[in-house]
Formats: sequence, structure tokens, C-alpha cells
Amino acid sequence: MKLENLRPLSGNGKRLYVETYGCQMNVGDSEILVSIMQDEGYRYTEDIAQADVILVNTCSIRDNAEQRIWGRLREFHRYKRARKGLVVGIVGCMAERLREELFERETVVDVVAGPDSYRELPRLVAAAAAGGHGVNVQLSQEETYGDIRPVRLDRNGVSAFISIMRGCNNFCSYCVVPYTRGRERSRDPQTILREAQELFSAGYREVTLLGQNVNSYRWKEGTAEAVDFPALVERVAGISPLLRVRFATSHPKDLSDRLIEVMASYPNICRAVHLPAQSGSDRMLAAMNRKYTRAWYLERVAAIRRRMPDCAVTTDLIAGFCGETAEDHAQTLSLMREVGYDSAYMFKYSQRPGTLASRTMTDDVSEEVKTARLNEIIALQNELSTASNERDMGNVFEVLVEGLSRRSSEQLCGRTSQNKMVVFDRTGETAPGDYVRVRITGCTSATLFGVAE
Ligand code: SAH
Ligand code: SF4
Ligand code: F3S
Repeated sequence: MKLENLRPLSGNGKRLYVETYGCQMNVGDSEILVSIMQDEGYRYTEDIAQADVILVNTCSIRDNAEQRIWGRLREFHRYKRARKGLVVGIVGCMAERLREELFERETVVDVVAGPDSYRELPRLVAAAAAGGHGVNVQLSQEETYGDIRPVRLDRNGVSAFISIMRGCNNFCSYCVVPYTRGRERSRDPQTILREAQELFSAGYREVTLLGQNVNSYRWKEGTAEAVDFPALVERVAGISPLLRVRFATSHPKDLSDRLIEVMASYPNICRAVHLPAQSGSDRMLAAMNRKYTRAWYLERVAAIRRRMPDCAVTTDLIAGFCGETAEDHAQTLSLMREVGYDSAYMFKYSQRPGTLASRTMTDDVSEEVKTARLNEIIALQNELSTASNERDMGNVFEVLVEGLSRRSSEQLCGRTSQNKMVVFDRTGETAPGDYVRVRITGCTSATLFGVAE
């Protein structure tokens, strides 16, 4: 036991319930803050009705993400009435963006903590339990929570996320993340390797290295040689050939040939690159401050495929950004066809207060036109995803088993290196964490079906 644990713990056995919205970084952060709270004597519960403390880890990326959370907060009044002394805390990006305004707009809120103040959470919650408000939205230049061992909240025990950096310096003109997450900083590679090694020893077979722009990962200490992203991925992949390594997200401007080389030389680095394009129009890319052109983007995709012809390429796209014309939109559709994405996340542009776009551009594409363009993008991606899955028919893939399929306990599901979900009949003793060779015999736009070899 650590010496400091001899002092009274502020949690004192109280139950903590956590609800997580937004991106994978938030999923990772929830695992960090549960760890911090447990060290103070709080007990994690999955039953909200039992909770003494509810923490909501929030997202501000689009207005509808925030609306959903406001709706959820209104429901919490019911729990507060039922349980005296219940503390409700808002953490994450919305806490950082709205700060004290959250107390004013929603009386159910007792604690507001930004993404860099989770070490303070026990103190903030204790202050709220004593009848006050707890607030800390200070952003940090250094905080990476590198020394904290996340409590794994996932249930499959096969695949885990590891945050390797925090914040973002790119200031894409539409994006709120640099404001809610602060400046970019990388985490000590020793702590990343230790975490990956521990996961592998605990039976995990896949880690996803997370950051807003993993390609700009860089760690330098004293006179030692700097560790950049290709070097980090190579070290993690070196832990075991049985440990799959994925990463997200790659900003197209920083995807290097060296990274492609490292990927190609380790079969356990997954054949999947998530490369958000946002738009196919150079005029839009410039307005978005993405710092690459369509031609540059296509060249990066070609470079990936030259070395790894079987590599999946997926993307994020925004419909209806400021000033987007029908011609710009057509360019996005043509980029999609030209790349032939395996899958995509697709969004309507949502203006975010404080961003460059909200300060200097007009959100001038009507809601109707945004919806129509998004629907066209989604319909095209459905075609492309189906075509991508049909190309896999008859081929054999190594599938990492994650668990039972949702439909039947006689079927298992798992992913290919390309990150496609495969459902197949259960055979023998196959268990989560095993690798199985599966021949693909059927598909929809979202799932592959097959038989174990
Ligand atoms: N760091 C990652 C993206 C993080 S946000 C990257 O640069 O690729 C995930 C996605 O949300 C973005 O890729 C973008 O497609 C979308 N997004 C971000 N801000 C948005 C906004 N204001 N409106 C609509 N979509 C947005
Ligand atoms: Fe947002 Fe751009 Fe940073 Fe991604 S790279 S988080 S889109 S500012
Ligand atoms: Fe949302 Fe923050 Fe992630 S705004 S997408 S939770 S970094």
C-alpha cells in the first residue's frame, strides 16, 4: 500500500457512476478519472440508481452532441430528488467550453472540470458534497496523466485504447477541439510501453494509440534521441507479434513515408489508416485550414497503397461548410469515388462558437442543402462500403475474436486487420482474444460473414 493511502480517503466508499460521450479520447479519459477517483476511495458502479456521484464526460464537437447532453442533464433532477446528497459533475469538452455557464443554465450541476483537471476531481467533488460548487477548467501545457493506470471499463478484455498525446495545435477553422483540449503535448513513451505491455500480459490482443493528430507525436528528454510516431509504433509493435496495433487519428498533412514503411514491415500493425479528408475541394480545404490539397491527399493514399495494397482507408467528411458550392460538394463526391473509402464518418457542418470559422466566415449553406448533401454523401458511401466488402468475398482473413455476435450465442464476432467486423459460426474452443482464419462468404455494407477455416 502506498503511504499516502494511510490518510483518510475522501471517497469513503461512495459510489461513482460515469457516462461518456464523444470520441475515443473521452473513453480513455473516463478510464483515467475512474482510476483517480478509486485511489481516493470511490467505488465504481454501473448502476446509476446507486450512485452518490454522477460524472458526465462530455463532447462539444457539434451542436447536436451538446443538445443531447443538455437533455440528459434534465433527467438527472429525478435522481437528485431520489438520492439526497447526490453530486453531479460535468467533465470534458463541454465543461471546458461553457465553464460556470453550466451552473447557471442547469441547476442540477455541482462540479465542472475540464480535461486537464481530473487529478483535482476528488477535491472538487468533496467541495460540492459539502454544499458548494467545484470548478476547475484550467488547461495545462504538460498534463498527460502518463503515470495513471487507467481502470479498463470495457468488457471484452481484448481491445483497449491508449492515449499517447493530448490537445491539438492545428486549429482547423471549424473545430472546437484546440479550445476545449488545449495545446498539443506528447506522453512519455516509457509509460505508453508499460501500459501496452501490461495490457498484453492481462490478455489484451489489440491496442489503439490515440491522439487528435498522432503523426505529430514527439518526445524528447535530455540528450536522448527524440521518439517520433513511427518510432513509437515500432516499439509498441515489438512487444509481441500477437499484439495488434492500431492508431487514430492521422492528419493527412503529417502522414509520413516512414510511418508507412514501419507499418509495412510489421504484420501486427493493422492494415487500416483513418485519414480524415473533410472535403474534396481545394477551396474548402483552404477555408478549413487543413494545410493540404486534394492532390496531396490523393498522393498520400497512393503511397499507402503502393506499400500495402490491402490497407483499408477510411475518412471523415463534412457537408455544407461555410461557402460550400454545389461544385465544391461535387468535388467531395468525386474524391470519395476516386479513393473508394472502405468506410466513413459523415457530418453536417455545425458552427462552433469561438472557432475561426464562427468569427470570420458565414454559416451560409441552408439546413436543407446541408441535409441533402449529407444524404448524397451517405448514399455514395453505402455503395462504396458494399463494394469494398464485396471485394473481400471468397478471401481468407485473420480475425481477432472479440466475443459473441449480438444476434446469436452460436456466432462469434471479431475484426480483420482492416478493422472490418466479421461474424462467423462458433467452432470448438475458440475464445475472445484468439486469432481465427475466416473465409468470407457473405456481406452487407456494414458487416462481413464467413466460416472459420
Ligand atoms: N483530430 C481529428 C478529428 C477529431 S473530430 C482529425 O483531425 O481528423 C472528428 C471529426 O468531427 C472531424 O474529423 C470532423 O469531420 C468532424 N467535425 C469537427 N468539427 C466539426 C464541426 N464543427 N461540424 C461538423 N463536423 C465537425
Ligand atoms: Fe480539430 Fe483539426 Fe485538431 Fe482534428 S486536427 S482535432 S479537426 S483542429
Ligand atoms: Fe468531442 Fe472533445 Fe472528443 S469535443 S470529439 S470529446 S475531443
